[in-house]
Amino acid sequence: MLRIAIIIGSTRPGRRGEAVARWVHEIAQKRSDAKYELVDIADFNLPLLDEPNPPIFGQYTKPHTLAWSEVINSFDGYVFVTPEYNHATSGALKNAIDYLFNEWKDKAAGIVSYGGGTGGARAAENLRLILGELHVADVRAQVTLSLFTDFENYSILKPAPHQEAAANTLFDQVVSWSSALKALR
Ligand SMILES: Cc1cc2nc3c(=O)[nH]c(=O)nc-3n(C[C@H](O)[C@H](O)[C@H](O)COP(=O)(O)O)c2cc1C
Repeated sequence: MLRIAIIIGSTRPGRRGEAVARWVHEIAQKRSDAKYELVDIADFNLPLLDEPNPPIFGQYTKPHTLAWSEVINSFDGYVFVTPEYNHATSGALKNAIDYLFNEWKDKAAGIVSYGGGTGGARAAENLRLILGELHVADVRAQVTLSLFTDFENYSILKPAPHQEAAANTLFDQVVSWSSALKALR
């Protein structure tokens, strides 16, 4: 059975990211093509990257890196749930990604973004650039949730009706590429 992580990409107190990720996970739970699990980067208490060696060598020295590595390595694919901070993904998610290399490599990923008017589209583009360097195959389908149209009073998540179908298209693509890349790994 394929294992897909839904990664909560923000750590801010009062973050909207957790509700978004839980909504994504609820949709995933209705599917039978993979096992979907929530992964919260906040649980790993990763400081700003403090490993002395480049992650490509996998010579980790810190318990938090080993714990993060073990979890990320155990998945076949990922759905990144990213906020938009200053037209980019969050510093917390970038930092968590930077900690590892081979754990991400040759796996597939989809992106669910959220933010102001563009639904975090610029954060998603920024994230795609980063994923390319890690040999992560990011699928075309995307979910973009706007604070103006997918949240009540800009705070309570109430996704527009078409968003569930968009999430399922994203899952379809992540599952097919995750499965295909298994052979390469
Ligand atoms: C530091 C910061 C920068 C932001 N920059 C943008 C931005 O450039 N574009 C945008 O659409 N929203 C921006 N926002 C709004 C966030 O997308 C929105 O607050 C979102 O809920 C943040 O995710 P979080 O609640 O999970 O932390 C910004 C928010 C913060 C805190």
